[in-house]
Amino acid sequence: MTHACAPGKIILFGEHAVVYGQPALAVPVTQVQACVDIEASVNTGILIHAPNIDLHSRLDDLSPAHPLRNIIEKVFSTLNPPAPPGGIEITIDSTIPIAGGLGSGAAVSVALIRALAAFLAHPLTDEQVNAIAYEAEKLHHGTPSGIDNTVIAYARPVYYVKGRPMQTFRTARPFTIVIGDTGIPAPTRESVAAVRKLWEADKAKWEKVFERVGEIVQKARNAIESGETKELGALMNQNHALLQTLTVSSAELDRLVSTAIRAGAEGAKLSGGGRGGNMIAFVQREKAEAVADQLKRAGARRTFITQVE
Ligand code: PMV
Repeated sequence: MTHACAPGKIILFGEHAVVYGQPALAVPVTQVQACVDIEASVNTGILIHAPNIDLHSRLDDLSPAHPLRNIIEKVFSTLNPPAPPGGIEITIDSTIPIAGGLGSGAAVSVALIRALAAFLAHPLTDEQVNAIAYEAEKLHHGTPSGIDNTVIAYARPVYYVKGRPMQTFRTARPFTIVIGDTGIPAPTRESVAAVRKLWEADKAKWEKVFERVGEIVQKARNAIESGETKELGALMNQNHALLQTLTVSSAELDRLVSTAIRAGAEGAKLSGGGRGGNMIAFVQREKAEAVADQLKRAGARRTFITQVE
């Protein structure tokens, strides 16, 4: 039997603009994870159990476009095992909310790739795992930047620029963020497509917005690396305002963002695709519980407090 897990992730700064070549910052969220167990079975073929989505099926019975079928077939075609491996049973278990901006799809892909590679006795580097997971993201998310699979495959803080090798960043002084989940599933594919529509209608205008996001990301990285983290709150507020102009916020996200600030956060913004999913707030450690509590009272389905080290 083989077993592999992958963490969730949260984007700190730079979502959407990252699709257009600007940098973004993201960190793993280890409180949630996707795990995969694989064992040999007496039955032939591949049997998949994913109780979270109530799926119990033979691989061949899933539609060819199904994300799980896709990623499993991709691993087999990449690793090309010498002989048919016999029957196997794959169990996928995830505590990462689906379509919530915490990278559930990429985490399932990464855990599945690692567990299958171990089962087939064909170890892969993080870079290879990342490359296969990116192929799966492309199939299901239209034009993904690749940030989700990168931060999850390397499980490290990432300063990400599309198409460039992975770069990590140092945290001179740990800081705390509170994540608030609106509980509203919002497919990233749709918000990314909506931004693309805006951009296609007026490229010069929206590229200026993307550049301003890129400047915020740069300032945030400098603040994190120099330990001047008190600037992060204001930078989050500025990033959120630009995301609002990109039409990817929502009434619920805006409400949770203002609630966090009223409860003592230094700044807050939506995180990920937007229009639902998650928001994050930058807080002093001692205020984290109070902010999380107020977010719950304001309707957040779940909250997580994460220390970025
Ligand atoms: O919704 P999430 O957390 O998977 O994040 C998507 C981030 C975007 O920048 C909106 C899209 C992308 O591919 O980078």
